[in-house]
Amino acid sequence: MCGIVGYVGGREAAPIVLEGLSRLEYRGYDSAGIAVLDASGILTLARDVGKLSNLTSRLEGAYPPGCTGIGHTRWATHGGATELNAHPHVDTAGDVVVIHNGIVENHRELRDELVFAGAVFRSETDTEVIPHLIARELTIGLNLEEATRAALQRIQGAAAVLVMRRQEPDVLVAARIANAGGVVIGYGEGEMFVASDLPALAGHTRSVVFLDDGDMVRVTATGATYSRLSGEVLTREPQTVDLENTAIGKGVYEHYMAKEIAEQPEAVLDTLRGAAQFDPPAVFLPGLGLDDDAIASLSRVVVIGMGTSLNAAQVGRIYMEQLAGLPAETDNASEFRYRRPIIDGTSLVLAVAQSGETVDTLEAMHEAKRRGARVVAICNTPGSQATRIGDGTVFLRCGPEVAVASTKTFLGSITALYLLACYLGEKRGFLTGRRLGQALDDLARLPQLIGEALKSDAATLAVAERHYQSEHFLFLGRGPQFPVAMEGALKLKEVSYIHAEGYAAGEMKHGPIALIDAAMPVVAIAVKDDHYTKMLNNIDQVRAREGKVIAIATAGDTLLPEKAQDVIYVPEAPTLLQPLVTAVPLQMLAYHMARLRGCDIDQPRNLAKTVTVE
Ligand code: G6P
Repeated sequence: MCGIVGYVGGREAAPIVLEGLSRLEYRGYDSAGIAVLDASGILTLARDVGKLSNLTSRLEGAYPPGCTGIGHTRWATHGGATELNAHPHVDTAGDVVVIHNGIVENHRELRDELVFAGAVFRSETDTEVIPHLIARELTIGLNLEEATRAALQRIQGAAAVLVMRRQEPDVLVAARIANAGGVVIGYGEGEMFVASDLPALAGHTRSVVFLDDGDMVRVTATGATYSRLSGEVLTREPQTVDLENTAIGKGVYEHYMAKEIAEQPEAVLDTLRGAAQFDPPAVFLPGLGLDDDAIASLSRVVVIGMGTSLNAAQVGRIYMEQLAGLPAETDNASEFRYRRPIIDGTSLVLAVAQSGETVDTLEAMHEAKRRGARVVAICNTPGSQATRIGDGTVFLRCGPEVAVASTKTFLGSITALYLLACYLGEKRGFLTGRRLGQALDDLARLPQLIGEALKSDAATLAVAERHYQSEHFLFLGRGPQFPVAMEGALKLKEVSYIHAEGYAAGEMKHGPIALIDAAMPVVAIAVKDDHYTKMLNNIDQVRAREGKVIAIATAGDTLLPEKAQDVIYVPEAPTLLQPLVTAVPLQMLAYHMARLRGCDIDQPRNLAKTVTVE
């Protein structure tokens, strides 16, 4: 959710913090703020509502002076997106400065207690209790680190906090409790960095330490000391991470979303690289963390995720059944974690999370582990929480995704799930040599097929031009195309704010059909697979009610132009891999509709890329 950046060193902090925030803005963009301290303890706070650019243009050329600073981009949970609610927050005296990602669940009672004791609150946020709590601990003679430790012990909920104090101008204190999203410490030459995730460190350092749940750190310009919230001292050695691709721009594209859609052939190819061998056929997943005995003992798979990752999980379920021969089901991570799932050591829980930081998915992983299941992350972000909770990880190698609406990681997750299903199928003797060879040969064609699908851009734009003023859309698909229909609807509502529903086409008659009239475009994914005839029935039923049909059809289909008002062609592809091809025009449709409607495509209202609160 919120983005966090901190700096302590020999350079002016404000430009470094603001630049770091600009790379994290996808995490939240309701408001932004920074606080800078100079060596004599003079504190300057600057906050503004809306996007970071409002704050940066206000500060341009007049950065607050000082070599210690913290900054935050906010995704509001408690209190509206106002300047007073923007972080950083301070205590009554203005000595302790805090930024926070997460939710303080017991903030009401803490606020009552603090107000009773004389604290002056200035915002409606849950966060503001933290500087007041720390300030109270400081009055009994503790230093900032000790006072933060004591204060955080009073907090229930999730919190990643970064704190500084006027009286200790060369110190930052950070802590992480209860899966509140990441905190990473970056080591520079005579300077140190703190961030909620890696892109903020690009160009500064590749040497980092990730905080675990319950870890605290005290950071000065020359290094960091680690401890547990309980007080136990820790030793943490920095590791080197690959940040090459993290400093990225839009290139020739107007939006990240367009760039990331166009990057999909490469994203899929990179995910395959090193993992799939075509001759002789083999899959290599060295980070899986499951040995042959564990794989042989599996009795079922549960694939979980949220948002686009849940839609990818739905496709993955089909792969687990058809390629690995394992009973499989899917669930929203947020539901799974609370439904007391009946799983054991023979269950494999696959957690799909491009960011590796979605709190519901992380908590579901913990729950699965508590119940003894094998847990594997399907993830795009090295070093993220998800990669450290499970037995292992299958990485999608899509590079950083910046647009809030996921595109290339949808295809990357599906590709990784396909590879994993082939791997499990082969190890379990379900995919024999010849069938494995066929499954992998199919995969080898994928980057080229996705490239072909991208050529439907002009046709998709023409469809968008005809329909962008519609206020409702229905997406229908069957079999492997059902999750694609869900994803098409999700993309459209995310970026264009058009109300859209995705349905298994068989369900159409059981409710959605009541909505169909001349004002309701229906996107029917009717490629030539086993469900084609049934999809034609759906299309006829829509037309009989004057609905407008936009068909996603296999290249060369001559029947659909007679039945549908609009047809977008995609190349023929193996049935199981067809979702990776049909998803492409639906992503482009959402993009073009949003552009025509003048929406903020890369940062849609109310959304955030990484959701670290429940
Ligand atoms: C947010 C993003 C979505 C993403 C979902 C799950 O809602 O806006 O694009 O699909 O989180 O994210 P994850 O990182 O777990 O895949």
